[in-house]
Amino acid sequence: MSANWNYLVHEMPDLLAPSMAKDHPNLPVIKAEGCYYYGLDGKQYLDFTSGIATANTGHRHPKVVQAIKDAADHLMHGPSGVIMYESILKLAKELSDILPGDLDCFFFANSGTEAIEGAIKLAKHVTKRPYVVSFIGCFHGRSLGALSVTTSKAKYRKFLQPNGLVYQVPYANAKGCPDGMDAEEYVVEKLVNDFETLFNHQVTPEEVACVIVEPVLGEGGYIVPPSGWLKKIREICNQHGILLIFDEVQTGFGRTGEWFAAQALDVTPDIMAIAKGIASGLPLSATVASKELMKQWPLGSHGTTFGGNPIACEAALATLKVLKEEKLVENAKKMGAYAAEKLKHIQEKYPVIGSVRSIGLMIGIEIVDPLTGKADGNGLINILDKCLEKGVLFYLCGNSGEVIRMIPPLTITKEQIDQGLAVLETAVAEHLNELKSELSVQYQNV
Ligand SMILES: Cc1ncc(COP(=O)(O)O)c(C=O)c1O
Repeated sequence: MSANWNYLVHEMPDLLAPSMAKDHPNLPVIKAEGCYYYGLDGKQYLDFTSGIATANTGHRHPKVVQAIKDAADHLMHGPSGVIMYESILKLAKELSDILPGDLDCFFFANSGTEAIEGAIKLAKHVTKRPYVVSFIGCFHGRSLGALSVTTSKAKYRKFLQPNGLVYQVPYANAKGCPDGMDAEEYVVEKLVNDFETLFNHQVTPEEVACVIVEPVLGEGGYIVPPSGWLKKIREICNQHGILLIFDEVQTGFGRTGEWFAAQALDVTPDIMAIAKGIASGLPLSATVASKELMKQWPLGSHGTTFGGNPIACEAALATLKVLKEEKLVENAKKMGAYAAEKLKHIQEKYPVIGSVRSIGLMIGIEIVDPLTGKADGNGLINILDKCLEKGVLFYLCGNSGEVIRMIPPLTITKEQIDQGLAVLETAVAEHLNELKSELSVQYQNV
């Protein structure tokens, strides 16, 4: 790998599709290690993105790298089904030990989107019902099947008219909860009303194969619903023989302070989609269900060439080992609580921070216009650019790109959190000062 490819950076706009390459900040890097990226500019960047919740064990953990090298020396490709190999079987066994309930049978694929496709196909096959219910704001991927249930941004769906026979209901949102009413009670009541309306006016529950939900809203803006909300969904599904799918692509592998959000929020789905953190960055995912469900999916009704690749499976086994040996799930809970507490103090000082929402090391920091309280995506970019200049990388989410995603590797230390949040606070303060001095005299009184 060349150490100086500056000449190629300028060619990027012609070489890569903008839909692939124009995300924020598109930082040129030459190396990653632990909680750091090393830029082509020679600078070190503290990484609070984990490659979007993927490098949970830190970048290039030596035990994961070694497992990949060893695997490459033996077997690079199956494909599973034609060839049988130890790592895929061992991985299935080890995953069933950490997954909740009877989720113990696996269809391995390569990406989160594929795991979602598998989950929906399985649910329709098993129930022989045509319809799916998903939640407004959720992100499940952008292939046509996954897109039919994805509604985090309308632009993802533009001109595509995804038609997967899908109905949508609102995600948990406590905004508008009357004074004196418990927020959990409020969102549960709304959920029950929304499903009643759906089943009375649009589709009978007997026709619904599955309800699919992100147990914690990710790309849509980092919202942690109360456990009672997910329990009510479980209850509605049970009542009508509907299968419940959890999309744990982003929430899995310790991110929430438990192995999965299902355990953190105490609700077990019938089918789960897992990916991202599973193999520390190698492409691997799985649709998971009980043996009873999976056995009803006949041979050939789903398939893959690369899914469950032997190198990715060995990387996943090493990832699980590291997560356990280094107690990284516990660290996510501890460091997540520590960071959230610090962020609440920062929020009190700066009216550009609307709210801080978190579970484990999945932390959302909402940026608003301090005068109107409205989502401020431009303000967020200003803040993230300043953080990057000062050597800290954050990512974003939310319908208007107004929520800072703080998702560091689960190996993060207190000192690194202090360092990153000090930079964030400075950037927020600078942003607020700019609003006050440059944008409008109206801000002077904020
Ligand atoms: C919750 C969720 N589901 C599905 C996906 C799609 O996963 P992939 O990009 O691996 O296809 C993502 C990706 O960000 C995600 O966050």
